[in-house]
Amino acid sequence: MTLPDPLKLIEAVPLAMLVVDGAARVVLANDPARALFGDGILGRPFVTVLRHPAINEAVENILEGRAHSRDRQQARINAQGRMLSVAATVTPLPLNGGQGAAIAFEDRSGIEQADAMRRDFVANVSHELRTPLTALAGFIETLRGAARDDPSARERFLDIMQREAGRMNRLIGDLLSLSRVEAEERSRPAESVDLAALLRNVVATLSQGADAAGVRIAFETPPQGVLVAGDSDQLVQVFHNLIENAVKYGGSGGVVTLTIESIAHEPVLRGPAWAITVADRGEGIEAQHLPRLTERFYRVDGHRSRERGGTGLGLAIAKHIVNRHRGRLRIESEKGKGSRFTVALPVLDPPASK
Ligand SMILES: Nc1ncnc2c1ncn2[C@@H]1O[C@H](COP(=O)(O)OP(=O)(O)OP(=O)(O)O)[C@@H](O)[C@H]1O
Ligand SMILES: [Mg+2]
Repeated sequence: MTLPDPLKLIEAVPLAMLVVDGAARVVLANDPARALFGDGILGRPFVTVLRHPAINEAVENILEGRAHSRDRQQARINAQGRMLSVAATVTPLPLNGGQGAAIAFEDRSGIEQADAMRRDFVANVSHELRTPLTALAGFIETLRGAARDDPSARERFLDIMQREAGRMNRLIGDLLSLSRVEAEERSRPAESVDLAALLRNVVATLSQGADAAGVRIAFETPPQGVLVAGDSDQLVQVFHNLIENAVKYGGSGGVVTLTIESIAHEPVLRGPAWAITVADRGEGIEAQHLPRLTERFYRVDGHRSRERGGTGLGLAIAKHIVNRHRGRLRIESEKGKGSRFTVALPVLDPPASK
């Protein structure tokens, strides 16, 4: 067996990888390494390629015979002006003319970002749970003390306590629902769902509350045979939240309109789609909030949302569900004019000929 060409060998490695000779000059570099440090690194002294004291020292220790085993370090490096978190591994590599070293870089930026998101999420959940819990604990204390012999205050406090407990319950339900939807995001739902019927049911469920708030939900006769491949419970969740939001936050316009439209070619879905739009004529949402609305716990007006029992998870859940259905969620809004939330879903059976 002949050994493979060393350059071919490191080109086969998906990590950025360099080899330096005994004089600490770069003698081999694969594609990812050139992408990281620039095309002209071959032949250059390693210290001019990467100025990172700890990694440079590890290389020197190996080249000068002070270290004989692999050294691995977490480092923040400057790669052509871009700051990256990497794990750098420096390994002794005997070369023809003496001791060399191989240096591999594993980009950890994505992992660190995911860690930061997880920490934020835990902090947010704890905060959201603590708020109602603090209220509950406070009222228990009041009921034991000052309000002990005041039946009307007792009733009032028990009402609030019930509402706060209900809110905690909803939050936990939403969190479970979010993690379930995320877990199955890659499995495409296969049930055939009649969207028009599904939307009629959602409207029926919500219209009583809307009426009480003085909002009419207008759902003009939808086209026939609006079929998608879907998970009906999840789609109910999406439209329930969109319509509920439109009534809750956009209800000042008095009417929420629901439309189903057939789209011959949806550019992002690259095919025919059904577009379901929930439009309100309320206050609208300022542009800077739009890209963040589907983040977990993001609210334009946190106080108002909480007051109305919102958890701030509805749109995050909706977005994951729509993704699972290979659809897209588009949000448009103009301050003072109202908002439009459009869900586009691929049609079940694209007609072969028309
Ligand atoms: N139609 C709308 N008009 C104005 N603001 C809206 C509209 N829909 C959503 N929002 C804003 O987006 C935020 C996030 O909505 P989302 O549905 O994710 O959470 P929520 O309604 O506060 O809580 P939940 O849906 O869990 O009850 C809302 O708090 C509100 O500020
Ligand atoms: Mg909502």
